[in-house]
Amino acid sequence: MTSAPAKRLAVLAGDGIGPEVIAQSLRILAWFAAERGLSADVTEVPYGMQAYRTFGELIPDVTRNALDSCDAVLFGATGAIDTLPADTRKRGSLLSIRSSLELYANLRPIKAIPALYDASPFKREVLDGVDFMIVRELTGGIYFGQPRGIETLPSGERRAINTHSYTTSEIRRIARVAFALARGRSGRVWSVDKANVMEAGQFWRDEVTALHAEEFSDVQLTHMLADNCAMQIVRAPAQFDVIVTDNLFGDLLSDCAAPLAGSLGMLPSASLGPQRADGSRSALYEPVHGSAPDIAGKGVANPLGAILSLAMALRYTFGSEQDAALLEQAVWNAVATGARTRDIMHAGGRQVGTREMADVVLQALGELNKAGARSHRASA
Ligand code: IPM
Ligand code: MN
Repeated sequence: MTSAPAKRLAVLAGDGIGPEVIAQSLRILAWFAAERGLSADVTEVPYGMQAYRTFGELIPDVTRNALDSCDAVLFGATGAIDTLPADTRKRGSLLSIRSSLELYANLRPIKAIPALYDASPFKREVLDGVDFMIVRELTGGIYFGQPRGIETLPSGERRAINTHSYTTSEIRRIARVAFALARGRSGRVWSVDKANVMEAGQFWRDEVTALHAEEFSDVQLTHMLADNCAMQIVRAPAQFDVIVTDNLFGDLLSDCAAPLAGSLGMLPSASLGPQRADGSRSALYEPVHGSAPDIAGKGVANPLGAILSLAMALRYTFGSEQDAALLEQAVWNAVATGARTRDIMHAGGRQVGTREMADVVLQALGELNKAGARSHRASA
């Protein structure tokens, strides 16, 4: 039982399937509060198109305040906002949240679990042993670089510009996250760039190399070109442990890796800010899948990406590796029962909806918790 002060969670379910999957992760959170003494102070606030229709802003004041005062954000999904005025979009986009909370480190674990091999387009031989972490830089690079925009040239022709730029400190702080993570894993990091064509790629490589020599020479570092990395992820993904890369390559490579886990619906993520003096850091936990408007409101979305994101919150915000591992094990056990949402369905699977999938996870949690208590008594 924990006596630490309650963690304040701002819950932004957002658009599309966001509210459906977040509702299920909140049920799981309630289980941890009731059964494991987890102390969380949950504030659900409006975000996205729904908020815009009511308040005229994607992030209304109440949500802004919750973001400013929370220990972590549970985020559902952001929908299509491209029809909104540019300044409204700019103030309220997911990118603006990442930037204002300085969430520079995006962790996307990719794990192939045997129960879901049949849901994956990959062969078993390719999936065996796949367990790696993509560390994506999230507040820099071409997503944020200046200058940017669309202009009309004197000739009347139009031109669009985006700028890919990184400073030494931006590269070093994300590489530091990757090296530190690797120390707790198999001690190997792949740094991914396009040093063969981009100055910024060569610079990325130079900075990662220098940091490695100065602080992390115990970790094995391999540089890889981004195009080759995309190919290696589908050819021989079990070779990887920690991959560190920039904002855009990280976006592409994580979608590319998703089918290794069965479906994009399985993937969780954590986005972390700089460590403060008291050891805490801003954090946002979000399934990678997005709003999936085609299946929104139908109760068929896979809640496991959101639930595994909650497991990451237990690990990085609540500091409880034990609870995080318990929840991850419960998810593996849940899929081992054959329960399948549509995205991970295959011959022999038992199709379930969003809520029912969470029921199966809750059942697995209950069983694991009882077994844990039994073995605790036996060893006491
Ligand atoms: C992601 C998403 C976002 C991104 C979009 C929704 C802005 O694709 O988190 O991977 O490109 O970063
Ligand atoms: Mn993406």
